[in-house]
Amino acid sequence: MADLATRFREIFGDGGRVRVVRGPGRVNLIGEHTDYNGGFVMPMALEAAVRLALVPHDSPAVTLWSEQFAERAEFTLGGRPPAEVPHWLRYPMAVAEVLAEQGVPLKGFAAVVQGDVPVGSGLSSSAAYEVASALALLVAARPDLGPGPAATVAKAFDLTTERLALLCQSAEHRVGVRCGIMDQFISLHGRHGHAIVLDCRDLSYVAAPLPTGRAKIVIIDSGVRRKLTSGAYNERRSQCEEGAERLRQFDPQVRQLRDVSPGLFRAHESALPPIVRRRCRHVITEDARVTESVEALKAGDLEQFGRLINASHDSLRDDYEVSGPELDLLVEIARRVKGVLGSRLTGAGFGGCTVTLVRPEAVEPLREAVMARYPKESGFEPRIWVSEAADGAAVEV
Ligand code: GLA
Repeated sequence: MADLATRFREIFGDGGRVRVVRGPGRVNLIGEHTDYNGGFVMPMALEAAVRLALVPHDSPAVTLWSEQFAERAEFTLGGRPPAEVPHWLRYPMAVAEVLAEQGVPLKGFAAVVQGDVPVGSGLSSSAAYEVASALALLVAARPDLGPGPAATVAKAFDLTTERLALLCQSAEHRVGVRCGIMDQFISLHGRHGHAIVLDCRDLSYVAAPLPTGRAKIVIIDSGVRRKLTSGAYNERRSQCEEGAERLRQFDPQVRQLRDVSPGLFRAHESALPPIVRRRCRHVITEDARVTESVEALKAGDLEQFGRLINASHDSLRDDYEVSGPELDLLVEIARRVKGVLGSRLTGAGFGGCTVTLVRPEAVEPLREAVMARYPKESGFEPRIWVSEAADGAAVEV
């Protein structure tokens, strides 16, 4: 990442003052598959991020060089889409489209796209990319704006970061996944040293300080990549909608699963087809686990937080059925290590990463335990790292 501005000049030649924007990835601590049910989530932003180094220009062309794919591609703002669109170009194209529909007067630019959020790993590389693309488009439109947090940039366009998150979410929907709001929201609202607890219905949130001295957040990449395409994810979402619809007959206040209390669910679960019942049980109990996690964190009860994290995984594995043998193996290995408080898959599932809450002195034993068993038993190489909670998106330079 040495110097992205230098990289820009290598690729595009000397074009003027290079600006750098950053959209972070995220890890979700608890509250999985609750966001699109109007529920609660507890993610934190990562230091790993997508960055664009850009120089605005006068033509309406957006010319991008992807470091990851070593490929150059271009689209024209307000113009017809190019005949061949590489997948990675679809994200900034969709973001430009939604911003233009908001009446933001966009201008073209050239940029190098660089990221260190592993793609397809459940750490929201696509949201990071959408958010970074949105900031790049805004900075190109108003090159007079200086470096600063996303909120300042948004304000210059009469936008808020909440609005920007929603716009980036709708860009993601255009690319194919009917995702919730969590990823784009945390990428824009992350706070150093904190997780955020977000109410995905009204987008109110609080920052929850993480007890970094007493526990570490370890992310372990299973190495399994399953593309989060419309398929399994959108299917889960529809099953939840069906569940809410059916439960509404018992309480007309039910709009989404978020409105179903554990008591209401227990009283009427037999009215649901078996698969829908299991999906609903996950979401309803997971919402409760987020609320309990907030209490546990407040009380400094990390053992309890760890138990909730474990319960979240078990529910995702058994009821939501989005885990897999490799994620289950990582979780099982972690839970046997003394000093590990809790371990679960994070993100949508179907491969990707686990997140583990661990006492600082147990980080090394955890690493050793994973390396001793996981490659041999799974056939995959894991990546293991400790992550601090980072700030949200910003114009860096
Ligand atoms: C993906 C989606 C999010 C959320 C998670 C599961 O990351 O983009 O909106 O639904 O899966 O919690």
